[in-house]
Amino acid sequence: MNLTGAKVRVKNITRADVSLLVKWKNDPEIGDLVRGGSINTTFEIESRRFERGLSESDIIRLMIETLAGKPIGFISLVEIDKDNKKAEIGMLIGEKDYWDNGYGTDALVTLLRHLFFEMDFNRIGLEVFEYNQRAKKAYGKIGFIIEGMQRQGLCRNNKYHDIYLMGITKEDFVKIHGVPHPKVSDYFNIK
Ligand SMILES: CC(C)(COP(=O)(O)OP(=O)(O)OC[C@H]1O[C@@H](n2cnc3c(N)ncnc32)[C@H](O)[C@@H]1OP(=O)(O)O)[C@@H](O)C(=O)NCCC(=O)NCCS
Repeated sequence: MNLTGAKVRVKNITRADVSLLVKWKNDPEIGDLVRGGSINTTFEIESRRFERGLSESDIIRLMIETLAGKPIGFISLVEIDKDNKKAEIGMLIGEKDYWDNGYGTDALVTLLRHLFFEMDFNRIGLEVFEYNQRAKKAYGKIGFIIEGMQRQGLCRNNKYHDIYLMGITKEDFVKIHGVPHPKVSDYFNIK
């Protein structure tokens, strides 16, 4: 996969990206906001995840880079369920200087457009911790809806927190973002 949005490119992860994942996930500020972030990860753990991602059909692991080619984040598509045309997403912008500048939103909209219109997905879900205001705002802007809540589903620093369950369907996405314009090449069947 290699998708170009307005601000970012979303592309398949490579072995060379693994050390960035270790750095980002071990940042305590990021760790507080993502699943599994309470445990320090290592190069070996992330390398094993990378290898597993290559062989398993229900996971797609992707990097987010700026249009200038700087890697800034990561998206994983997991629990891919082809029968029901759905999957779950996890993401992080690991370069914190890039937070609040629309990069995460652009990456996710670009990926969703591809998933809904090129890969025939119908629904994408995600989980967000109740205190992650930035993520809730970003996902809400994109069109994700809060569908439910897992009460006290997260224990961090000896305190329980709720987990919001959010989702977006292809129908929701079209209402907000429209249908992508066909390319001229599609009309004339140009390869
Ligand atoms: C969540 C994340 C993917 C969003 O990407 P991003 O590029 O920072 O998001 P955007 O800039 O597109 O949107 C963020 C929005 O949240 C707003 N925001 C920031 N802090 C906020 C706060 N404390 N309360 C409410 N809104 C907040 C921003 O102003 C912006 O809204 P605006 O565009 O209307 O001004 C990214 O910040 C990130 O990876 N964070 C760390 C890890 C994480 O939380 N991952 C998600 C786990 S579910």
